[in-house]
Amino acid sequence: MILIGTGSAVPDFTLTNQMLESMVDTSDEWIVKRTGIRERRIAKGKATWEIALEAAQNALADAGLDPLALDLIITGTVTPDFFTPSVACMVQGKLGAKNAFAFDLNAACSGFVYAADVADSFIRSGKAKNVLVVCAETLSRIINYQDRSTCVIFGDGAGAAVFQASDTEPGILARYMRADGTLGECLKARALPAETDPFAAERLAPPELRFLEMSGSEVFRFTAAAVPEAIETVLREGGCTAGDVDWFVLHQANERILRMIVTRYGLDPRKVYMNIERFGNTSSASIPLCLAEMRKNGLLRKGQRIVLCGFGGGLTYGAILIQI
Ligand code: COA
Repeated sequence: MILIGTGSAVPDFTLTNQMLESMVDTSDEWIVKRTGIRERRIAKGKATWEIALEAAQNALADAGLDPLALDLIITGTVTPDFFTPSVACMVQGKLGAKNAFAFDLNAACSGFVYAADVADSFIRSGKAKNVLVVCAETLSRIINYQDRSTCVIFGDGAGAAVFQASDTEPGILARYMRADGTLGECLKARALPAETDPFAAERLAPPELRFLEMSGSEVFRFTAAAVPEAIETVLREGGCTAGDVDWFVLHQANERILRMIVTRYGLDPRKVYMNIERFGNTSSASIPLCLAEMRKNGLLRKGQRIVLCGFGGGLTYGAILIQI
C-alpha cells in the first residue's frame, strides 16, 4: 500500500505552560525540561468527530480522492463522542463515503500504527483498495486540570492518512504490533463503572471517575524498553539499519524518549521528527499530525523509508517500517 494523502486539524485555543502555572503547582521550566512541551491545543466545545472530519477532508483533498472511492474508514480514538455511533461512522456519514464500512479502533497512543497495520491487511487481502485512517482525540474532556501529573502533558488534535493499494510500490516492509495488558492500570480512563445495582434511582457516576490517571514513571520505564524492541524488530525484519531510514516518526509522548532514540542509534536528530513542543501528547493523533506537517512542508518524498512507532495505553506498542 502507498500513502497518497495526509491531513490534520487542531483546535484554535492554545493552552500555554504559563497558563498552566496559574492553574496548578507547576512551572514552564519543569514542563519544558521533563517533557519538551511548551503549549497544546484544547477543543473547547468541538467534538472528536468534528476535528476528525476536518482532518479527513484535508487528507482526501491532498490525495485528490473522492470520498465515494473509499472502501474503509478506521478511526483511532480513546475519546469518542458516543459509544455508538462510532467516530468513524460519523465521519463516513458526513463525508458521504457511502461505499466505505467504518469502525473505531482503541489502541490509545498506538492507534495510528495499529490502524495502518489493519489498513494494510485489508488492502493486501484485496478487500479494500482505498482506506482512510483518521485518528482524533479531545483528551481535554478526560483530563483533570487540577492534576499536574497529567494536565501538562496532553492536548487535542486530529490527523489523517489515505492509503491506497499498489502493485508496484513495496509499502509496508515490516510490522510489529504488541500489547501488555498486565500493565493496563498504569494509564487508565474509565468509561462506565461496574454497577452493583443497575436498578438504583441515582445512577450517575461522580465526575472524577472519567479522568485519566497515569503513573508517568512506570509508563516511561515501559516505553524505554518497548520502543527500542519495536524499532529494532522492524529494522531487522525489513533488512535495514537505522542509517537506511529517512525518518523516525514516533508518538510524541515526551521529548526525552525521542532524544533517547537519537542517542541510542547515533542518529542525526533531524531524522527524528518532533512537534511535541507545540501540540503536547495528542495520543493516537500525534503520528498522523506529524506526517501531515511533514508532507505539507515537503519533507516526505517518494521512495523514503519511514519508521512509525506508537506506544501507550493498554499498554500497547508497535512499529511499522514503510517505504512511501
Ligand atoms: N510540575 C511540577 N512538578 C511535577 C509535575 C508538574 N507538572 N508533575 C509531577 N511533578 C513532580 C512530582 O510530584 C515529583 O515530585 P517529588 O519528587 O517531590 O515526588 C517530581 O516532579 C518527579 O515526578 P515524576 O513523575 O517522577 O517525573 P518524571 O521525570 O517521571 O516526569 C512525566 C513525569 C509524566 C513527564 C514522565 O514520567 C513521562 O513522560 N512519562 C511517560 C508518559 C508517556 O510516555 N506516556 C505515553 C503514553 S500516552
